[in-house]
Amino acid sequence: QLPTRVKIIDVGPRDGLQNEKQPVPAQVKVELVRRLQDAGLAEIEVTSYVSPKWVPQMADNHQVMQALPRKEGVRYSVLTPNLKGWEAAVQDAPDEIVVFGAASEAFSQKNINCSIAESIVRFAPVVEAARAAGIAVRGAMSCTVGCPYEGEIAPERVAYLAGLMKDIGVERVDVADTIGVGTPRKVQRAIEAALQHYALDSVSGHFHDTYGQALANTLAALELGVWNFQSSVAGLGGCPYARGATGNVSTEDLVFMLHGMGIATGIDLDRLVDAGQFISDFLGRKPNSRVATALLNK
Ligand code: HMG
Ligand code: MG
Repeated sequence: QLPTRVKIIDVGPRDGLQNEKQPVPAQVKVELVRRLQDAGLAEIEVTSYVSPKWVPQMADNHQVMQALPRKEGVRYSVLTPNLKGWEAAVQDAPDEIVVFGAASEAFSQKNINCSIAESIVRFAPVVEAARAAGIAVRGAMSCTVGCPYEGEIAPERVAYLAGLMKDIGVERVDVADTIGVGTPRKVQRAIEAALQHYALDSVSGHFHDTYGQALANTLAALELGVWNFQSSVAGLGGCPYARGATGNVSTEDLVFMLHGMGIATGIDLDRLVDAGQFISDFLGRKPNSRVATALLNK
């Protein structure tokens, strides 16, 4: 029994743009968010409060958050890896904060400069403060099927990380295939590992499309009943600490597949393609989305 409704978080403004070499002005990011919400996105991952030396593109986090044309009913989320990030983020009143850990020890070191165990120690006070402030808390779990440094990752490592996240009060988790090496059965094993600690409603799929598997992996996740997914408009993106990794599955392709299966998303595909075109025009390239390409050439 497949879900009849899916909720999508567009992570384009954050995951999509974080690795972008050319400067993207805050007002362009704000306009992208505005177009996404006008297309019907009810959750948007806007920015991150990380070191500007590590990720210069997100250094304008305050500017972007302060200028958001907030729309009723839309959840704006931001990444906060530690207390410093939380203290900066809370000034901008996000609806949800995201702590981000990895199932792979090596990736944890490269991405956030600490071990998995240490990351949980850093996240714990952030989660506590956010919950005390009535702000929702999500946990991203990177490298749940494969790691650029360690290779294949066993589901047990995903279950371990999910358990740690659960222990510190993280409310829901993303099963991320950071480098897009997952294939449907492997992704199902990773999701089942997360489901040892979290209910179906609290697990989402975050699939990068590096090897072209993201839609197949989405279908595999839907078969397990997962109904929360993350994707990136125009297929923007890549992770600075996962070399060669490309963007998330494009939101356009995801929405086209879901609607074709009779699964509701609340998203207007034409307006979404418009949003993708807007940011792609700014970046001077074509949207990295088969559906957007097809519709724009019609
Ligand atoms: P650290 O070096 O361990 O932190 O970095 P530290 O406490 O030792 O501080 C070092 C310097 O960073 C100091 O500055 C701090 O002030 C500063 P200095 O004195 O040298 O000038 N600093 C900060 N500045 C701004 N905001 C902060 C902050 N914390 C410390 N919050 C840290 C730890 C996590 C900050 C660093 O490693 C970092 O910024 N890493 C970048 C992580 C990142 O943004 N990765 C990409 C997002 S995750 C992702 O894309 C995966 C995901 O999509 C899922 C998937 O696909 O897998 C979510
Ligand atoms: Mg990602």
